[in-house]
Amino acid sequence: MMVYTSCLILLVMGLGTSNADVDTTWMKTTLQNHFSQPRHHVTNPTYKTAARDFIMNEFQSYGLDVYSHTFDTNLVTVKGVNVIGISKGKDFNTNKDQIVGVAAHYDTMRNTPGVDDNGAAVVAMLQTAKHMAKSRRNFTVIFVAFDFEEWEQNLPQEACTYLSCGSRKFVSDWIPSFWTTVPDFRGFIVMDTIANIQEAADTQELPVGLGLFAPGVVNSVNSDGKKGDFLAAIGRAYDSDVLNAFVTSYATLGQNEFELEKINISVLTDKTLTQQQFLIFNDLIRSDHYSFWKNGMRAIFLTDTANFRGYMEKCYHHPCDTLSRFTPKMFQFLGKTTQALIATVNKLAPPTDQSRGVVFV
Ligand SMILES: *[C@@H]1O[C@H](CO)[C@@H](O)[C@H](O)[C@H]1NC(C)=O
Ligand SMILES: *[C@@H]1O[C@H](CO)[C@@H](O)[C@H](O)[C@H]1NC(C)=O
Repeated sequence: MMVYTSCLILLVMGLGTSNADVDTTWMKTTLQNHFSQPRHHVTNPTYKTAARDFIMNEFQSYGLDVYSHTFDTNLVTVKGVNVIGISKGKDFNTNKDQIVGVAAHYDTMRNTPGVDDNGAAVVAMLQTAKHMAKSRRNFTVIFVAFDFEEWEQNLPQEACTYLSCGSRKFVSDWIPSFWTTVPDFRGFIVMDTIANIQEAADTQELPVGLGLFAPGVVNSVNSDGKKGDFLAAIGRAYDSDVLNAFVTSYATLGQNEFELEKINISVLTDKTLTQQQFLIFNDLIRSDHYSFWKNGMRAIFLTDTANFRGYMEKCYHHPCDTLSRFTPKMFQFLGKTTQALIATVNKLAPPTDQSRGVVFV
């Protein structure tokens, strides 16, 4: 009986967060049902297509305008598909509009269920989209589930040979074809591998050289027993508005056992990332934010640091990146990040006061 009761309490505390906007129980069920097997064109194309259809249906059910962006890959027989959901701002398609983006890739490497990489970020994006779609907003918010963020070399039937094929095509082809005059992009929030949290000492590794440009982050992690108990929010000087909006939103939520390390790569002073800079800062530019930085667009990157932390040191891109690794704490951590994401987008693309107008007319 004692055992039963404490299990129940754990369940309630772990999964049902008190927050009205973020449903971590739904997130768990959705990970189980749609993001717990490989989503790869060679090893599991059926499951990958089903995951994509699920995202599309969810976007539609929230009332977003939904688009699929199909692009060529290395293989004639395989197309990539980005799924896009748009909440049009009140000034959509005028020069007053601005764009705020939230993105996560839904594909995986060949032989990984990819629950942390990157199912968790997809469900965080879906919860945010559901919430955002409820109000009319001053600015347009765009949600994108990218295909082919993962890349592979020297394998049979490889479709994408370099990092982030899907987001690169999105930036180079889809954006200019969708808008006749490309509006101002306030920034994209890109998430990749965001759920893993480890509270034991010595669970966190750091990239070599991080101390050279982010000594504060290295000191903070080392003086805290090298625990993997934080989310990393990464940006350049040019991305400061978005980075600050997220950092402030996260701090406001309390729940201080889930920490945040802001990594401001302030030596990247330009809008546009060069190839040489990419090679130097490679450990911090390992996902779809690369495509935005490379093209002079604002973006920040949220991550649990992937293979630098705990079980993901061996499970990253491997069969043990499973849902069974997820603890109640990880769902709470994921819930806090999602809540901070909602607050950030609310700040950057505030609701119009139109709804009040309707009530009083
Ligand atoms: C990042 O560093 C630059 C240069 O010091 C500074 O101007 C900018 O405000 C910083 N951004 C954030 C979000 O801390
Ligand atoms: C949003 O748009 C409304 C109507 O144009 C305007 O009155 C309001 O100040 C705007 N809010 C923000 C936070 O920009």
